[in-house]
Amino acid sequence: MVAKKLRLSVLASGRGSNFLAIQQAIAEGRLDAVILQVISNKADAPALEKARALGIKAIAIDPKSYPDRVVYERQIVEYLQAEGTELVVLAGYMLLVGETLLQAYPNRVVNIHPALLPSFPGLHAQRQAVEYGAKYSGCTVHFVDGGMDTGPVICQTAVPVYSDDDEDTLSDRILEQEHILYARCIQWIAEGRVTVEGHRVTIEGEREVR
Ligand code: GRF
Repeated sequence: MVAKKLRLSVLASGRGSNFLAIQQAIAEGRLDAVILQVISNKADAPALEKARALGIKAIAIDPKSYPDRVVYERQIVEYLQAEGTELVVLAGYMLLVGETLLQAYPNRVVNIHPALLPSFPGLHAQRQAVEYGAKYSGCTVHFVDGGMDTGPVICQTAVPVYSDDDEDTLSDRILEQEHILYARCIQWIAEGRVTVEGHRVTIEGEREVR
């Protein structure tokens, strides 16, 4: 029997390396999913170019051409629902997600953040970790709630921070792990292993799969 593929839409504002890593995991059979479309708030986002090159639908929606954030997100939800999206994957999406999208996809929006949350939320998480003098940082995949990087944590990977690191060297070390972790977390969701209760996430059989 062929397993049913989890239907993903990706929201991205920039480079799109996490999008590519997810697509690669699909191509290599590590992730039972399909990327239906990449949606960006930036028309010139390299992520859109990368999607087009792979023959994946790429959509730019400029928030400035909508009267407010609610109407902008309604448009996004329309695109998501039109393709039968089951999971919304934020991959470097630089806008805070609002109630309109979250109510349409409760506990069905995931994000990756380049730090071990709740440490170093927000922008420049890698720089924050270096400047703080943390000895470990890493990445976190989490469900999105109304806050800034505050939603229930699905999984994390730690990496060392060395005293001669700068923002760039630490970012590279973390990014390598982001590309592995994100696809794995989405696969657990595809397998129906992931449940959320309050702020806590349970992964069925986690001692085997983590
Ligand atoms: C990643 O570091 C991710 O953790 C953060 O934004 C960056 C996106 O990179 N949310 P990319 O566009 O996926 O290459």
